[in-house]
Amino acid sequence: MTSPTSSEAQYALCAENVSLGYGDRIILENINFCVEHGQIVTILGGSGCGKTTFMKGLVGLLKPTQGRFELYGKDISALSAEGWLDWVSKRVGVLFQSGALIGSLTLAENVALPIREFSNTPKEMLDEIVRLKLAMVRLEGYGSYYPAELSGGMKKRAGLARALALDPNILFCDEPTGGLDPVISAEIDDLLLELNYLLGITMIVITHDLPTIMAISDWSIMIDGDARGIIASGAPRDIANSSDPRVYDFFHRQVSRGKA
Ligand SMILES: Nc1ncnc2c1ncn2[C@@H]1O[C@H](COP(=O)(O)OP(=O)(O)O)[C@@H](O)[C@H]1O
Ligand SMILES: [Mg+2]
Repeated sequence: MTSPTSSEAQYALCAENVSLGYGDRIILENINFCVEHGQIVTILGGSGCGKTTFMKGLVGLLKPTQGRFELYGKDISALSAEGWLDWVSKRVGVLFQSGALIGSLTLAENVALPIREFSNTPKEMLDEIVRLKLAMVRLEGYGSYYPAELSGGMKKRAGLARALALDPNILFCDEPTGGLDPVISAEIDDLLLELNYLLGITMIVITHDLPTIMAISDWSIMIDGDARGIIASGAPRDIANSSDPRVYDFFHRQVSRGKA
């Protein structure tokens, strides 16, 4: 729907010396990285290390206490609330950890909501767009269902349809496979790969799910709560054998916990 204003921007997203926190409490500091167009980047780390905080910063819901985020070459840390709505929310889709579907609305109404908010699309066209978005996440025919009537995996896919409603250039997903069994998780992995391949959407996926990390990542960034920052960055296969025990143990914990 909206293309980046600076199509020549070298990166989809960059963090420059970013610190994030709540009040006086610093959660992450001196964060530096860039994401290339069309890549799937996973953000890894144990529970409570600051992954969701990181995503809130990336999507502009939490202002950095230091440094800046650049989206397609534009400094989004400096934007006002209106500027943010106008510039960022049309380019960015977010799948929140909770799914964040509105329980009193049907699936179709949930997906239509952001489109209604940002346009005066006529009803027939809106219905057609919603049908398409639901088909993209393999939920065709479920438009009249309420969130409570859906399984965990279907809820995640519905959240994904809503995140894709405005045809974002970049999609953020917080724990898209959280709480799902391995088979359903693998279906979500495949769906993300397909959307990335077919639509060319850049994706930032927060996860601590090893099979997901290995299946979808072009690049991974591992953060650590005690270090308050990035402790590894690279293709997962490369960083998995890091000499840093915090990184090595993260990648090998399931193997070492197994019976074999
Ligand atoms: N709104 C908030 N206010 C104060 N502290 C918070 C808030 N949200 C998260 N935190 C704290 O920030 C730390 C990182 O949390 P979070 O980013 O949710 O971790 P993760 O997503 O990696 O599990 C935790 O110690 C958490 O208690
Ligand atoms: Mg989280």
